[in-house]
Amino acid sequence: MSSAPQFTVPNDASRLPVTLRTIEDKHHRAEPLVMVTAYDFPSARAAEAAGVDMVLVGDSGAMTVLGYPSTVPVETDELMVLAKAVRRGINTPFLVADLPFGSYEQSDAQAIGTAVRFVKEAGADAVKLERGNDTSVARARAIVQAGIPVVGHIGLTPQTATALGGYRAQGKSAAAAAGLVQEALALQDAGCFCIVLEAIPAAVTEEIVARLEVPTIGIGAGPATAGQVLVFHDMLGIREGRGAKFVQRYADIQPEMNAGIAAYAADVREHRYPAPEHTYSIDEETLSAFRAQL
Ligand code: KIV
Repeated sequence: MSSAPQFTVPNDASRLPVTLRTIEDKHHRAEPLVMVTAYDFPSARAAEAAGVDMVLVGDSGAMTVLGYPSTVPVETDELMVLAKAVRRGINTPFLVADLPFGSYEQSDAQAIGTAVRFVKEAGADAVKLERGNDTSVARARAIVQAGIPVVGHIGLTPQTATALGGYRAQGKSAAAAAGLVQEALALQDAGCFCIVLEAIPAAVTEEIVARLEVPTIGIGAGPATAGQVLVFHDMLGIREGRGAKFVQRYADIQPEMNAGIAAYAADVREHRYPAPEHTYSIDEETLSAFRAQL
């Protein structure tokens, strides 16, 4: 493997780091906000090169890169490793780190402690937590009061998908839709500067957005949100299966990865790799001296 960097990143000095102010300004100008997840250095470099506004070290990394069956088992220390790698890969996007399930629910002190770790150790600009119930609203308020920006997340909240009856759209009854409006308002009141809306009917999203001052980022929530987020592996096809209905595929990389490794395996087995151009040489004199020592 070459030690030279393999990434093409625009060296655009006019690209300043995205701040809370940038996000607010874009929202007021109705300029769409672009967020993507990233979990390691190469995905972070790709997000940087593409010039996205925000990068989320989602706990979806539990599934996309760590192979867990859901986001529930992932530990703070595991997500911390991913967040640190992403931090090393981005200069300009605003970096949001997910608080894993079980790392913030127990008390305000627990929530602040975990959020502080993501900011101090991983260099996150903000943290995200799931749900808009009393507990999450209280934790969001406590973290904001500790000086850390917080993103809320309502609708389909994968950390509690079991309690929601599975990975399915939320807010489909009048009462559930009204509940989402209340949750969004409560998170805004707690100080969240932004709220992710996941898997919510587009018309319900419109009503939520109309009642909020802070920007919303949608994933499967229709076009009314201030921005959109997609999971890196879903949008680039680095996965088996198609994923959720709302995923738009922008590349199909998994088959290319499989084919690349299969071609490498075939080359090794057929003695085509390594070829002379992959091989280091040694001058004859040194070689003779070396052999004489054996
Ligand atoms: O973990 C994640 O990737 C997320 C996004 C789907 C918003 O929370």
